[in-house]
Amino acid sequence: MVLFQRKILLAVTGGIAAYKALELLRLFKKQGADVRVVMTKSATAFVQPLAFQALSGHAVHFELLDTEAENAMGHIELARWADVFVIAPATANTLAKCAHGLADDLVSTLYLAVTCPVYFAPAMNHVMWHHGATQANLKRLQTHGINFIAPESGEQACGEIGVGRMAEPETICQRLISDLTAPQGLANLNVMITAGATREPLDPVRYLTNRSSGKMGYALASAAQQAGANVTLISGVTHIQSPKHCHFVQVETAEQMHAAVFSNLENCDIFIGTAAVVDYRPVICADEKIKKNAEHITFTLQKNPDILADVAACENAPFTVGFSAETHNLENYALEKLAKKKLNMIAANWVGRDEGGFERDENALEIFWQHGRKTLAMAKKSELAAQLIALITERFNDAKKMHG
Ligand code: PMT
Repeated sequence: MVLFQRKILLAVTGGIAAYKALELLRLFKKQGADVRVVMTKSATAFVQPLAFQALSGHAVHFELLDTEAENAMGHIELARWADVFVIAPATANTLAKCAHGLADDLVSTLYLAVTCPVYFAPAMNHVMWHHGATQANLKRLQTHGINFIAPESGEQACGEIGVGRMAEPETICQRLISDLTAPQGLANLNVMITAGATREPLDPVRYLTNRSSGKMGYALASAAQQAGANVTLISGVTHIQSPKHCHFVQVETAEQMHAAVFSNLENCDIFIGTAAVVDYRPVICADEKIKKNAEHITFTLQKNPDILADVAACENAPFTVGFSAETHNLENYALEKLAKKKLNMIAANWVGRDEGGFERDENALEIFWQHGRKTLAMAKKSELAAQLIALITERFNDAKKMHG
C-alpha cells in the first residue's frame, strides 16, 4: 500500500493502449491510491467508461461543459483534488494540445489547471512517435517540467515493429511509487536557488549577458521540492516555466538578483548559486539607443557584487553551495573559489565543450568540499539535480551534526 491515500487523477486518451489503463488503475488501487478517471471522447470508443467507474468506485468524467458533472466535481475541483495527474495512454494529439496550451476538452483543460506533478505515458504508432512534430512537442512539454514515462519498443497494434507501445502498467506504477516516495531529506527546510543569466543593460535595447538557459538551476529547484524543501527560486530571464509551488522571483540584473537574494535570505537553510551572474556591468546605461556612428566604441565596466560570496560571508550564513563554470583548470579554479568564497561545497562543470554546460539538457559535475569530492557522470540535468540534492542533503546533515 505504498501509494496509500494518494489522490491520482488518471486521464485516458484515445488509443488502443486505453485497455491497459484499466490494469494501471487496478495497480494504483492495489497500492492504496484514490483514483478518479477522466477520458477523452475517443478513449470511450476503445473502452467503456463503466469499466473505469467499476474499478475506481467513482463516476468517470469526460465532458468539459457538463453542468451535472460541474455541479458534482467540476474540472477546477478535480484539478485541485489531484496529488498527481497521469495521462496514460497519451496520444500524439493530446501531447500536441498540451504542448501548445490548447484547452478544448477536459483532459487538455485539466493539464493547464493542475498544479501537481504531471506524468505522460505516450502511446502511438512508431512513425508518429518519430515525426518531427511529435518530437518537438515532447521537447516543448519538457520545458513545462512534466515527467515522461517513455514508450517501449516492440510489435504494435498495427502489426508494425518500433517504439511507441505504452510502457507496461507495472512500469508506470513503479515509476510513480519511486518518485512519490522519494526520501524527503529536505522536509521543512528553506532552500534558495539562483538560476539563469543576468542581463546588464548598455542602452534601452542592448545588454551584456551569457549563455545560461536556467535549465540546471530550475532542475535543482524541482529536485529540492521533490526532497520536501520550501524553495525560493531567484531567476534571471529564461524561457523555462518556473516550477509550480515554489516562491519565484524574476530579476534581470546582477544588482537586482543580489537585492532579491538578500530580501529573502532570512531563515534560509541552504543557498545554491547556480546563476551565471554577469561579472561586470556597464558603468553607464545610455538613456537612448546608442547610434552606430563611431568605428570603435568603448564601454567602461564595473564589477558586480558577488552574490555567492556575500551570502557565505553574512552572519548566520546558510549552508552555501556554489557552482564553477570553467573552460580550463576546472579543479584548481573550483577549489580556489571554494576556499576564497568560504563555501561549504562547490559543483564544477565544463563549459564551451561539445557536451554538458550551458543550454544543453545534460551535464556532468565535479563536486568538492573541504575534505572530499565526488564525480557525477554525464546525465540529464533533472537526474543530475536529484543526485546533487541528495549529496547536499548528506553534507548539510553532517555539517549540522558537527556544528550543532
Ligand atoms: O543554465 P544552464 O544553461 O543549464 O547552464 C548551467 C550552468 C553552466 C550556468 C551552471 O551549471 C553553472 O555552472 N553555473 C555557474 C555559472 C558561473 O557563473 O560560474 P562562475 O564560476 O563564474 O561563478 C562561481 C559562482 O559564483 C557561481 O555559483 C555563481 O552563481 C556565483 N557568482 C558569480 C559572480 C557573481 N557576481 N555573483 C555570484 O554569485
